[in-house]
Amino acid sequence: MNQDQLKQAVARAAIDYIAPKLEKDSILGIGTGSTANFFIDMLDELKDDFAGAVASSDASATKLKALGIEVLDLNEVSELVAYIDGADESNAQLALIKGGGSALTREKIVRAVAREFVCIADESKWVSVLGEFPLPVEVIPMARSYVARELVKLGGDPVYREGVVTDNGNVILDVHNLSIVNPKELELQINQITGVVANGLFAQRGADVLLLGRSDAVEKLYP
Ligand code: A5P
Repeated sequence: MNQDQLKQAVARAAIDYIAPKLEKDSILGIGTGSTANFFIDMLDELKDDFAGAVASSDASATKLKALGIEVLDLNEVSELVAYIDGADESNAQLALIKGGGSALTREKIVRAVAREFVCIADESKWVSVLGEFPLPVEVIPMARSYVARELVKLGGDPVYREGVVTDNGNVILDVHNLSIVNPKELELQINQITGVVANGLFAQRGADVLLLGRSDAVEKLYP
């Protein structure tokens, strides 16, 4: 199976996982990226079984609306039955790096509100130590250089993601060369830097279940 076929397999597994949990008034949190896009396409078949969705990006909201799925403002919703999204890396504790698609802040907010985070990923995302994928950090534009200097003090090499403005009007620094042995601690340390909006470590609250696409089967993994 190629990578797209693995992503389709985990999207299918997520549909099967989520279907029995849906009630007519359920609201789902939906993420961003190519794996989430496969999931959105398949969600068409369940669209009469739940009430609507909150999206972690404008791009996903547009795709959901095109299927006729109602997209709600998170402020109108008190709980999401589940949040389904991809990741850039996962370790065995299901601590994640996310934000390759620049949507990390909204993803973190949606994750915070969701009862369960169902992560869907192909096996290329599975690592023993997080950090080979550069860690995205969303930053208020005027703080970019200051935050970059502080990230260097934490041992990383931040690179400005040129030409990218997030859905929130901010910029992204991708932090290279971090070997993240304590993701929970680093997540908090980076959050402490003034000017940081959010960082792409989902360790304080990682995934609750990971559907990992391997060439022979989709594995269901728990922290
Ligand atoms: C979006 O900002 C990211 O967190 C995505 O979830 C992540 O980049 C995974 O994307 P793919 O499914 O395209 O690999």
